[in-house]
Amino acid sequence: MAKDFSAMEDSNRSSNPSIHDISEPSRRTFLRGSAAAAFLAPLSGLTALTALGGCATAGGSAAGSGPLLGFAGIPISNADTVTVPPGYVSQAIAAWGEPVGLSGELPAFKPDGSNSAAEQLAQFGMHHDGIHYFAIEGSKSGLLVMNHEYVDDGLLHRDGLAQWSAEKVRKAQAAHGVSVCEVTEKDGRWQVVLPSPWARRFTASTPMAVSGPAAGHALMKTAADPSGRRVLGTLNNCGSGITPWGTYLTCEENFIFYFNGPDTPSAHETRWGLRKGNPAGYRWHEHDARFDASKHPNEPHRFGWVVEIDPMNPSSTPIKRTAMGRAAHEGATVALTRDRRAVVYMGEDARFEYIYKFVSRDAVKPGGAAANSELLDHGTLYVARFDAEGRGRWLPLVHGQGPLSAANGFADQGEVVLKSRQASDLLGGTKMDRPEWIDVDKQGWVYCTLTNNSNRGGKDHPAVDAANPRANNSMGHIIRWKEDGDHDGLVFEWNHFVLAGDPFNERAEAKGNVKGDTFACPDGLWVDGRGVLWIQTDMSTSAMGKGELAVMGQNQMLAADPQTGEVRRFLTGPIGCEVTGATMTPDGRSMFVNIQHPGESPSERSDPAQPDRFSNWPDKRPGARPRSATVVIRRADGGLVGT
Ligand code: FEO
Ligand code: CA
Ligand code: CA
Ligand code: CA
Repeated sequence: MAKDFSAMEDSNRSSNPSIHDISEPSRRTFLRGSAAAAFLAPLSGLTALTALGGCATAGGSAAGSGPLLGFAGIPISNADTVTVPPGYVSQAIAAWGEPVGLSGELPAFKPDGSNSAAEQLAQFGMHHDGIHYFAIEGSKSGLLVMNHEYVDDGLLHRDGLAQWSAEKVRKAQAAHGVSVCEVTEKDGRWQVVLPSPWARRFTASTPMAVSGPAAGHALMKTAADPSGRRVLGTLNNCGSGITPWGTYLTCEENFIFYFNGPDTPSAHETRWGLRKGNPAGYRWHEHDARFDASKHPNEPHRFGWVVEIDPMNPSSTPIKRTAMGRAAHEGATVALTRDRRAVVYMGEDARFEYIYKFVSRDAVKPGGAAANSELLDHGTLYVARFDAEGRGRWLPLVHGQGPLSAANGFADQGEVVLKSRQASDLLGGTKMDRPEWIDVDKQGWVYCTLTNNSNRGGKDHPAVDAANPRANNSMGHIIRWKEDGDHDGLVFEWNHFVLAGDPFNERAEAKGNVKGDTFACPDGLWVDGRGVLWIQTDMSTSAMGKGELAVMGQNQMLAADPQTGEVRRFLTGPIGCEVTGATMTPDGRSMFVNIQHPGESPSERSDPAQPDRFSNWPDKRPGARPRSATVVIRRADGGLVGT
């Protein structure tokens, strides 16, 4: 049986801080949110509840009509728990270390961190991020496919980084990647099915294929893989997406941090952040030479891609789709043109990096994954340029067009997609304030969260521009655009959906214009089947609760009405966590939200001698290691989530 944390998390309204417990600025924030709620005009009947490729979320007659946001917003929190609105219940499942359900391999979680690398290969990884529910039997049973972005070696191993070994490297690699598990609901409770024929783990060492223009390229070939077409593993899987043909897209974000660079990195390596000494401290290269880029300079080229996984085919091989470009990918969100070509919107989460879209050459065919196995291999990649006065243009990353020539260092299209940062620099894409998740609302507006950028306007850094208007942007913002014509349009109009931050902040650049419950550092973003825009925050643990962020409480999830702009706080996370990916069952009655790195140490990796120093969520026992987990949220009366 999967561990069930229900006793700890159910009806946790009782652990909400009372209105009298929260600070003055917080109370002000809460009251503003509630007042905004009171004046919310009900929307007319719900729009058609369709989503991509029949992956409809809230459905049919159950949807009814009424205001888009129907719940009571909650205050900020500094408690070590998940808090949801009155009338809602939450339950944690699929925590790091629980068995994922591989047949014959159900190793129990060892609370002292002593599970072996081999056991970790059969368990949920660490640091849950992007997630999607793929229905098997509607909203009663399905697959949860989720990313495990990275690990905290202080919690992963019994004695943390001490006596660093090949076994510890293997365990860390096994705790990365993607999990596929089967889940079922009974009487409002969800559990992981053990074992399940669908259960899988993809890790930093799972064999994967490569397709598209960089497959087999000279820059992709290594001593271990002279073909340049067979990569071991996926890394730093952050945001995610789904395709209309039923597959999952997992996105490789901060892959460069795993590599040790040469003494003197090349200009190309420097542009991608490769440095000597593996400054992020993963230390994999000490026991696994392929992560030493001074010896294997092409290995980093094999990461930074969007990887397609077919969860419904348990024998399928993941494919790195290089036509969509290489980047520190946050997510990949698929929209369809009217003639059913796929348009994939992608943000690159790094300061002064870019927003991309890929337009497929071919239309999506009926017949599911098998019929669309090459759809993401042929098409055009574009980078966004946001011009003044609310207009913008998509610039094609096509070899031989404009500056993307051999003379400028691009031998072919494979080199263009592999060096998409350099290509975008030459094309003049707009350098953004950390583009994160992207999604599309029911009116066709495309939203992108921009978390923050403390370097904006600083010495030796780009100045403010129309799209990124705040120097030392500590609060972040959400930009949105609408293509002229269809999603394949080359020009667009844009505006700011919201500038995050406290409207009462005295620093002009940190003053927000949030209508309702205030927040900072938007990261996760998802539009559900009813059209609610869900926003998840990623204030860094070192900055959270301090200075300008003091009034924001801990990381949280809010719901926004794209039409009115109203924002209402729906969930607050435990201490030190980040709230990541979200998904729902097709009936809109069960929502799954990932809680990443509860108890994160503000300064460095956790201390294994004191693993519960900051949090012991979700186990809530003294000494318990805090664990990333998936939270299932339902209305106690079984109604639609968010209404
Ligand atoms: Fe992994 Fe950009 O968050
Ligand atoms: Ca993120
Ligand atoms: Ca983030
Ligand atoms: Ca995080």
